Amino acid sequence: MKKEKLLMGLLVFSSILYGNSLIEKAKNNNLLAIPDNKIELYKIIDPKGLLTPEKILLGKKLFFEPRLSKASDISCATCHDLKAGGDDNVPVAVGHKGGKNPFHLNSPTVFNAVFFDRQFWDGRSPDLEDQAKGPIQAGVEMAATPALVEQRVNAIAEYVSDFKKVYGKDVKIDFDLVTSTIGAFERTLVTPSKFDDFLNGDTNALNKEEKKGLNTFIDKGCVGCHKGMGIGGSMQPFDVAAEFKFSNIGGFKGGKGGLIKVGTLRNITQTAPYFHNGTFEKLEDVIKEMARIQLGIKITQEEVDSILLFLKALDGRKSNTDNPTLPKE
Ligand code: HEC
Ligand code: HEC
Repeated sequence: MKKEKLLMGLLVFSSILYGNSLIEKAKNNNLLAIPDNKIELYKIIDPKGLLTPEKILLGKKLFFEPRLSKASDISCATCHDLKAGGDDNVPVAVGHKGGKNPFHLNSPTVFNAVFFDRQFWDGRSPDLEDQAKGPIQAGVEMAATPALVEQRVNAIAEYVSDFKKVYGKDVKIDFDLVTSTIGAFERTLVTPSKFDDFLNGDTNALNKEEKKGLNTFIDKGCVGCHKGMGIGGSMQPFDVAAEFKFSNIGGFKGGKGGLIKVGTLRNITQTAPYFHNGTFEKLEDVIKEMARIQLGIKITQEEVDSILLFLKALDGRKSNTDNPTLPKE
């Protein structure tokens, strides 16, 4: 009798503690919450203290500005739709004159990219300010040149006045300043979710099934690569345990040492199709493929369903994604 009572007591105690101990377990496995405190958040997204509301707004206009492309018809927002998951929902990116990415590369999301160690699938860029130089010049994306961008921006009075407001009246508006200002806006594209609320201490933010999903996600080993504040965003080996089903499509071989940037799992329900070459439509199938090629394990349907519930809980709250008013010619 005494023993049973003790056991019952332990059960009740542990279920009260389950929320807290799961938070500890997640943190011990390097899952990090987006801070709910703005000062703490800005220490991470703006470590040099360079963001101002005016700069963020100017960066936003430039992010939506098609005149930064050669044919004045494509902006960053064309392929990174902020109303959707921050990408374009097609398998391969389509840019200048309908050109497709030569490596059959899928557009990744820009949401939460500020948390990534490296940018691009092969990790060739260190940060958002540097990254933005790529697509503007890429022949299959916006197909412009730095000189063309400088000429276009300097010819629009409202932009000249905006740049002066942000950087002072003697500012020289060059290509690097345009791209770093776009990067400043992108730094703010973070989407806290109920998973973050949970890690930040609200033990009821996730329901029982979502908590179970998180636990399965950790126990199966997904967390070995999908970790940090981005729940992804580091460079990791790909098809380690078995060959990727569609490795024949696009011929992309990864970056240094064959490493590929781990996709973020934040807002993952909104960013289909999946993988660097956009070859998987269903998230459920991606989970199975990941278990097979990255972990070399069999995963049951029940575990897949459970992980899926956790991934859905990573859908975040977006802000400042409405279209800005662009300056007239
Ligand atoms: C034609 C579609 C297209 C346009 C236009 C475009 N991108 Fe991209 N973006 C992509 C593709 C495809 C990749 C992946 C390319 C690679 O890895 O080589 C990418 C990668 C990125 C990444 C890296 C994210 C990650 O997970 O590594 C960021 C950030 C980004 N783009 C921002 C921008 C910005 C800023 C602009 C405008 C200056 C822009 N993009 C214009 C398609 C596009
Ligand atoms: C050894 C590291 C590693 C492990 C373990 C791992 N992943 Fe991945 N994951 C990656 C890499 C690298 C990519 C990017 C591959 C690509 O796009 O070609 C990725 C991509 C994904 C994607 C697609 C992201 C997108 O936007 O296209 C999902 C979803 C995913 N993983 C879920 C999981 C789940 C669930 C598990 C556990 C069953 C898991 N991963 C285990 C490294 C890993």
